[in-house]
Amino acid sequence: MKIAVFVSGGGTNLQAIIDRIKEGKLKDVKIVLVIASNESAFALQRAADNNIPSVVMSVKSFASREEWDDAVVEKLREAGAELIVLAGYLSLLGQKTVKAYNNRIINIHPALIPAFCGKGMYGIKPHEAALARGVKVSGATVHLVNENYDEGPILLQKCVDVLPDDTPETLQKRIMKECEQDILPRAIGLFAQGKIEIKNNIAYVKE
Ligand code: GAR
Repeated sequence: MKIAVFVSGGGTNLQAIIDRIKEGKLKDVKIVLVIASNESAFALQRAADNNIPSVVMSVKSFASREEWDDAVVEKLREAGAELIVLAGYLSLLGQKTVKAYNNRIINIHPALIPAFCGKGMYGIKPHEAALARGVKVSGATVHLVNENYDEGPILLQKCVDVLPDDTPETLQKRIMKECEQDILPRAIGLFAQGKIEIKNNIAYVKE
């Protein structure tokens, strides 16, 4: 299965996918394209280091959001992408892209949806909110993407304990390592094996 990975930042999730492919744990999965929302994303370096084609497509560099959306769909088609993976991608996809890849876009969110999600909840913010609320567990969620932030069917979730001396940064680091980098590659594998079924906006995973 050919996948396109969308990134905005450090790319530790992209790296986890690359590593699982190299280890032979994600059989029949190939990253055909990395699309970055900005040129300073370190994820681009990770793509280059692994000979993965990449392109920067920021909304700002197009005349309109529609033109950007059209160009993204065109790039994905050229690359033959069958699944889109949002791996720390901090922009909202265009409507044409979401429609063209209906039920074939997955996102990793750094909290247990429906907690600490939605517009503005990205990066360190869900962890700040989790600590401010005093939750005792937090984690990450892989879900399918529709036109609204973090509302598509949930595929996989994993949690960790929140520790008494956690800061947003220590919690973020633990969730990235123990949750995100585990469940994102796992969800891609389930997709590649045709093990995901959607009925009435609920995802059923045939493990
Ligand atoms: C990750 O923690 C990811 O869950 C989060 O951004 C970080 C990117 O890290 N995504 C969101 O907040 C999306 N709402 P990475 O670039 O090192 O993979």
